[in-house]
Amino acid sequence: MAKVKTTWFCQNCGAQHARWQGQCTTCKEWNTLVEEVVQKEKKPSWDATSGDTLSRKRTPQPQLITQIDVTETPRLDTTNAEFNRVLGGGLVPGSVTLLGGEPGIGKSTLLLQVCLNLPYKTLYVSGEESAQQIKMRADRIKQDATNCYILTETKTQNIFRQITEMQPEVLIIDSIQTLQTEIIESTAGSVSQIRECTSELIKFAKETNTPVLLIGHITKDGNIAGPKILEHMVDTVLQFEGDRNHTYRILRALKNRFGSTHEIGIYEMLGHGLREVINPSEILISQRGTSLSGTAIAATMEGMRPLMIEVQALVSTAVYGTPQRSATGYNLKRLNMILAVLEKRAGFKLGQKDVFLNITGGITVDDPAIDLAVVAAILSSNFDIELSSQHCFSAEVGLGGEIRPVSRMEQRVNEAAKLGFEKVFIAPAKQKFKEVGTDVQAFSKIEDLIKYLFS
Ligand code: TYD
Ligand code: MG
Repeated sequence: MAKVKTTWFCQNCGAQHARWQGQCTTCKEWNTLVEEVVQKEKKPSWDATSGDTLSRKRTPQPQLITQIDVTETPRLDTTNAEFNRVLGGGLVPGSVTLLGGEPGIGKSTLLLQVCLNLPYKTLYVSGEESAQQIKMRADRIKQDATNCYILTETKTQNIFRQITEMQPEVLIIDSIQTLQTEIIESTAGSVSQIRECTSELIKFAKETNTPVLLIGHITKDGNIAGPKILEHMVDTVLQFEGDRNHTYRILRALKNRFGSTHEIGIYEMLGHGLREVINPSEILISQRGTSLSGTAIAATMEGMRPLMIEVQALVSTAVYGTPQRSATGYNLKRLNMILAVLEKRAGFKLGQKDVFLNITGGITVDDPAIDLAVVAAILSSNFDIELSSQHCFSAEVGLGGEIRPVSRMEQRVNEAAKLGFEKVFIAPAKQKFKEVGTDVQAFSKIEDLIKYLFS
């Protein structure tokens, strides 16, 4: 029997090593090497450049920078406004996009829905589900598609054979971890397989100008499974996130060679697929009208879009020795900091209280502008005094108890005015907010704001 050839691959950078070692000499990461079976004699599956005339024709020639044609290639409209927005205006021909996300978050649903709506001949390759399962999902989404072909296959050689025959205009792969190329002997999902299959697909995309969308699994620490270089290889990395127990999902670009990474797309997972949330602040509107103690509304920004978010707090006397602090959708360290500021600068004895904080909608917020709403919600619950549901907050809170301005104040205030909020509480700003249609109240210290709200 022929000797099996194995190599050690670094899971972080994908570098190859002849033997095991504790540290990868390329990226200096520790304990990242895994052993995989390799064999390198066979021909790669996508190889359009073989043959002398072809390769000579395709070899790029140096060009004067002033002579490079910059007329933008038209992007393919996916007819999904949120998806287009995150991509930077549509699919770029020849681009490779990787979509990552937790299992069950809706990656397959999103791409199948996009695929069913595409006005182009599309091939959806699934290595995870049977054609019947995909059809059942498509029936659930209820869209008549005349351009969408399904192929259940995991061998790249077979996939490329089908592609050469049917010549799709868009290719979707669900998922990259299930693909297997014959030139490498290791199992599907291993570092070398993922890397090799991706590079074959990239080569195919660039040579035929076909956009390719790949679904990628993520590991438990939130990274896309496989070598980190996978993210460097592709043009765009999208992440689909949200709380599986809630219906809202956010699509974010982590990397985009053809557009901004500040744009986000918001979807709602319904019984019949994903609904695009064109006006994200509507997420909140259903809960408006009734005021409850412990609830405050923050005018935050998600990427470039204003988003009104409800913050809920519950403050109660600690029954057990150590008070409990818990935060959902908000950084726990930041909550502890805000509690310390309230204790030290505003004299509230929260040391013996349990404090629970929750951002509704299952959304995680990083925007510091939510701080002021967190303070307002905590104190509202502490005093059991409700805040008006017509008020909203938008400012960062500093260690000294100072209220600090945040970016894009104008956009936030305008959004609040548009949604009919009567008052917006912010930090003192240089801009004057007159005639914006809402009363803008600026405070520089939390003590002053607390006096205003609760006395
Ligand atoms: P799926 O796309 O299979 O997730 P992923 O590919 O990221 O693993 O989505 C699975 C979840 O979405 C599943 O729990 C059912 C739910 N779902 C709906 O709520 N409505 C729908 O119309 C569809 C198709 C799925
Ligand atoms: Mg799936």
